[in-house]
Amino acid sequence: MNKGFKDAVVYQIYPKSFMDANGDGMGDLQGVISRLDYLKELGIDVIWLNPCYKNSGVDGGYDISDYQAIAPELGTMEDFDELLAQAHSRGIRIVMDLVVNHTSTEHAWFVESRKSKDNPKRGFYVWRPPFEGKEPNQERSIFSGPAWEKDEATGEYYLHMFAKEQADLNWENEAVRREVYKMMRWWFDKGIDGFRMDVIDMISKPAAVLRADGGPHRSSAHGPREHEFLREMNREVLSHYDAFTVGESGSVSVTQALEYANLDGSELNMMFQFEHVEHDAGKDTKWSTGPMDLVKLKHIFERWQNGLHGRAWNSLYWDNHDQPRAVSHFGCDREEYRVRSAKMIAACLHMMEGTPYIYQGEELGMTNYPFTDISQSRDVEAINAWNELVVEQKKFTPEYMMACIRYKGRDNARTPMQWTAGENAGFTTGTPWMCVNPNHTAINAESQVGDPDSVFSFYQKLIRLRKTHPVIVHGDFTLLMPEDRQVFAYTRQYEGKTLLVACNFSCEDAALDELAETRGEMLAANYDEPGDKALLRPWEVRVTLV
Ligand code: GLC
Ligand code: CA
Repeated sequence: MNKGFKDAVVYQIYPKSFMDANGDGMGDLQGVISRLDYLKELGIDVIWLNPCYKNSGVDGGYDISDYQAIAPELGTMEDFDELLAQAHSRGIRIVMDLVVNHTSTEHAWFVESRKSKDNPKRGFYVWRPPFEGKEPNQERSIFSGPAWEKDEATGEYYLHMFAKEQADLNWENEAVRREVYKMMRWWFDKGIDGFRMDVIDMISKPAAVLRADGGPHRSSAHGPREHEFLREMNREVLSHYDAFTVGESGSVSVTQALEYANLDGSELNMMFQFEHVEHDAGKDTKWSTGPMDLVKLKHIFERWQNGLHGRAWNSLYWDNHDQPRAVSHFGCDREEYRVRSAKMIAACLHMMEGTPYIYQGEELGMTNYPFTDISQSRDVEAINAWNELVVEQKKFTPEYMMACIRYKGRDNARTPMQWTAGENAGFTTGTPWMCVNPNHTAINAESQVGDPDSVFSFYQKLIRLRKTHPVIVHGDFTLLMPEDRQVFAYTRQYEGKTLLVACNFSCEDAALDELAETRGEMLAANYDEPGDKALLRPWEVRVTLV
């Protein structure tokens, strides 16, 4: 298991949208290599690379057809080896995405498995007979519609918790687990530094999900063998390497995370929990138009910070390839407040306990895209939801659903990285696979690197602070002004030092109470003038050390 995970800052790369080196309109591994110096300058330690394996093009690389081959549109295995060597020579570690809850239906295992009921690979997936001529049970796919798809070859159904092209692997089958561990060892032996584990809470399914009894839809996560499987994976693979690990779970609670991310090293280093990014979700679906609720958000962080302190470890993130842009979601992306609020939310997150993750473009204050029509969406989740909620069920009006997509859609995160003010934001010399945000003329890396007032420079500073002050890594957490609707303030304490972080999440001035009043040495701020110690200006942040 990895020992450096507590001090690390991670940068997430969605390779399709990061940098296109060969002009075909799609980002690629050579593109990533060409920007390693940029990342070095930012100061990050680890890159989490979204899937770059051979896939069937349905879910942004999360539909893998060969775990040991690179997607041809992203490059070759030689490119990957070069990326690994070049990153390592700069002291940057590479963490890969591990997607083993499901494979593409084009994966050789599934191609075999569907052939007949007695095929040797049949048991690699979850096959069930129909119940009264219909789906085995009423389980729903996270990407809309039933989670069961009938396969004509045998008349049975296979389980897919995501798109129907993503068939769930059967982890109850020991042969599946052996194959997965073998594949993981192959990547570690190549020299990679760890895995981000996609929907890892779903590898063990609750019994009801597996029964062909027509039963109702239930949660499909945290099945009875979840921790047994992870501890086995740890024994068989992770414990033999210096492995950095983070597991994704859309529904993990603080109590469950104490087990998944226990500091005893028996499972994973940390988990990605979703409570904060989904605190403003709709009633039955993730879709909503906001607004965010600061009081609710603060209490979520407080529970996670205090719940895991000294016993497990937090991951810290505002956004990723599945979330809207951080500044649009939690700050204010109107031009007058964009830079200021991007810095404020960055400091608010980076000063907490846990390992911070920066999603590509977040360090520039990149924003959501002004989507106006569903035809602009590339994301299977948004397109399926549109078909279900707007076209079939007429539950949402087209206008409301477009507003939801603008607020919450995953495509917001997947527009190309904005390198320059020039054509296609300097991302490609060809035709980009996905629309470039028109605001690249104002928001781009070229104009920010080297500008001391830029969002980029502020992120550099936050990363440096984490490396300089142990209180940022180890301190305990106390929430101040818990019920205040504008201010998010907290302290961290460690070995006689107190870090005081005060953030204004609003466009108006906000009063600080006595405990949150500014005092001590100013480590970071987003206004030049010091201001009144008991009053925060719009979107202001002050980080001080007492
Ligand atoms: C995870 C990924 C997401 C993907 C899904 C299915 O949530 O982050 O992008 O669609 O799993 O693999
Ligand atoms: Ca390319």
